Amino acid sequence: MDFDLILSGDLPASTVRTALVIPVTDVAGPVSSVLTGEEAAAIVRLQESGVFKGKAEEVYALPSSTDSYAVVLLAGIGKPGTCTAENLRRAGGKAVEFLRRDRIERLILECAGACDWPANAFVEGVCLGQYRFDKFKSIPSDAFSGSVASVGVLCTDQAQGAALKAECRYAATVCENANWARDLANRPSNDLTPAQLAYEAKSIADHYGCAYDFLDEGKMSELGMNALLGVSRGSSQPSKLILLSYHCGPELPTLALVGKGITFDTGGVSIKPAEGMQEMKYDMCGAAAVLGAMRTVVQTKPRVNVVCVAPAVENVIGSRAQRPGDVVRAYNGKTIEVNNTDAEGRLILADALTYTVDTYRPDVIVDLATLTGACVVALGHHAAGVMANNDKVFSTLQGAADATGERIWRFPLWDDYGKLIEGTHADLSNIGPPKEAGAIMGGCFLKEFVKDTPWAHIDIAGTAWGVKNVPYLDPKHATGYGVRLLSEWIRRETAAPKK
Ligand code: BES
Ligand code: MN
Ligand code: ZN
Repeated sequence: MDFDLILSGDLPASTVRTALVIPVTDVAGPVSSVLTGEEAAAIVRLQESGVFKGKAEEVYALPSSTDSYAVVLLAGIGKPGTCTAENLRRAGGKAVEFLRRDRIERLILECAGACDWPANAFVEGVCLGQYRFDKFKSIPSDAFSGSVASVGVLCTDQAQGAALKAECRYAATVCENANWARDLANRPSNDLTPAQLAYEAKSIADHYGCAYDFLDEGKMSELGMNALLGVSRGSSQPSKLILLSYHCGPELPTLALVGKGITFDTGGVSIKPAEGMQEMKYDMCGAAAVLGAMRTVVQTKPRVNVVCVAPAVENVIGSRAQRPGDVVRAYNGKTIEVNNTDAEGRLILADALTYTVDTYRPDVIVDLATLTGACVVALGHHAAGVMANNDKVFSTLQGAADATGERIWRFPLWDDYGKLIEGTHADLSNIGPPKEAGAIMGGCFLKEFVKDTPWAHIDIAGTAWGVKNVPYLDPKHATGYGVRLLSEWIRRETAAPKK
């Protein structure tokens, strides 16, 4: 998306593919000096009759009375000063329906009218809301044609306008990265193999300039990463440990992002039921999210060092596949009894996390993973489960979650839970007792592999796809959850001084 600043006096005559977006509170009164008298009167009538009240999340497309715009899009913001960013994000999502139907390609956002509004959140809703996945459609449906490609920020004040424009542009950059992550996630596993995932990571480095590397199976075997390699045994697709690193300065803190990249999860020998198994192509959403966030990093170049580690593995069945009860020795030396081959995410992350700690010595690690069905049972699709060994890491993440609307909810990691994953024949078991705190069991297991590095684990099993009733997300595809959260978290960590 391109952004430009328009000063109110210089509003140009636009094309028919333009929409003028006006924020409207639920208090009647003049809303914008750039409207015609006829349009302003129409808004008063709409509000008086209650057809459009100006409530948060409400949008209304008013045909323009001039040739300049196709529509004047009214965005409800509720009581002055009470509208949240999430309300506007949702309004942006709802607006996309009109924008698409009317083939709108340009928005002009009124930012000098009667009320202040975080127009960047509206832009986020539009950007996420117009996402479509058509890579495998022979004939793109009508809905795929036309999308908002440019946004004008309408302001009276040059300095304020420049700041708003920058906020909107940043919002669009992050959302485009979320959409990029959604493209990866939606690709089926015969297309997006571990090697392809590595190729996509490399393309970030090639394009924007950061370091790319990967460990192949030979190298991982030399290093003793048998927890990861055990999962990979059944597959003919070679695993990759994908590594990206953005270095800004030796005096700056290093943040590490680690994402689960299971390109398909059959469950292995502990096989999953057939129904719904096709959704397990999404089991790499953690990897897609950390790569998407890394894209924001290399594009915006914050003053902090960031490394991104994504173990990419396929969990399938074969005569060579690992069996329940097998014992493997992880990279950190601990032995693990694999009592269920379907609890594979924690096995590949175990080695990825320890490798991250040993190689990069990060100040903090955040991992994202579609780790447990139990997390979906606990929180549904409207929040990710977070477990952390450090309160400060959690609270910074909470701030980022509040700002982006990508919700998190904390679960405890008490030592009593840890006892439940002690192994009978090895140091650890990869599962706890059935139906007991399944999401926490996953977190407890991972905790054993980060040493004393401040760390948070985000279980995105519920939020990565299948989210209903959020207008800017489409329930049939991946959501890109985590790209916005992590991008914002990194921005906040950048502002903090090194501990
Ligand atoms: N990828 C799944 C978790 C999952 C399931 C995510 C459904 C989203 C929807 C993970 O690898 C898995 O299979 N976990 C098991 C763990 C169990 C065997 C302890 C699960 O949740 O059943
Ligand atoms: Mn599994
Ligand atoms: Zn899995």
